[in-house]
Amino acid sequence: MKVILVNGSPRADGCTFTALKIIQERLMENGIEAPIYQVGSKPVIGCTGCGGCARTGKCVHTGDAVNEVASNLRAADGLIVGSPVHYASASGAVTSFMDRLFYSMRSSDLKLKFGASVVSCRRGGASAAFDQLNKYFTISQMPVVSSCYWNMVHGFTPADVYADKEGVRTMQVLADNMAYLIKMKHAANLPLPEEPPRAWTNFVREDLLAENK
Ligand SMILES: Cc1cc2nc3c(=O)[nH]c(=O)nc-3n(C[C@H](O)[C@H](O)[C@H](O)COP(=O)(O)O)c2cc1C
Repeated sequence: MKVILVNGSPRADGCTFTALKIIQERLMENGIEAPIYQVGSKPVIGCTGCGGCARTGKCVHTGDAVNEVASNLRAADGLIVGSPVHYASASGAVTSFMDRLFYSMRSSDLKLKFGASVVSCRRGGASAAFDQLNKYFTISQMPVVSSCYWNMVHGFTPADVYADKEGVRTMQVLADNMAYLIKMKHAANLPLPEEPPRAWTNFVREDLLAENK
């Protein structure tokens, strides 16, 4: 059992990392591997919409960890993405990373794997950033694992995060809940549900489309 953790902060050992470390320790206590990938320290290019990934299953931009995380995520049970709050949003690096990761991965590689996001802010904007990150999971058939509060810690330094006792507990409960759901899924060992045929309509009415041809 394995969960991939992603730190989208430019600070490799800052507040977001501290939140992820608390989760990592708890997942490991539950017998789950939990490697942390540092992705926010170097600039991460955004999706250039080239469509290369549709042909090869890989992102054409190879200067960061997108393809490595994708390949590890295929064999994992879940993904937890962490971001500092930057202007009431996820960081630019993590947004670029998640756009390219999710756009380049096949939906069958994500379907019914568990997802969660955690955010760290000094003061405000955490729930907006949290909502933003959860959207990647909810468009990808990934059940979002919840905790006893929205997954946020507060602080400017790791010591601040540890002093945010409710935030620490929220991270621990999140890790325990994710571990429980992963174990339940393994124990059930059910085949994944089949899907209806694909529909792709772009919200365009067929009759108007024909008129304008
Ligand atoms: C560019 C930038 C924008 C930020 N915007 C916010 C913000 O909107 N709200 C907030 O509370 N903190 C904001 N912060 C502070 C960080 O979110 C906060 O200190 C966070 O815990 C840092 O996490 P880290 O150590 O993992 O980078 C901002 C920091 C930076 C560098």
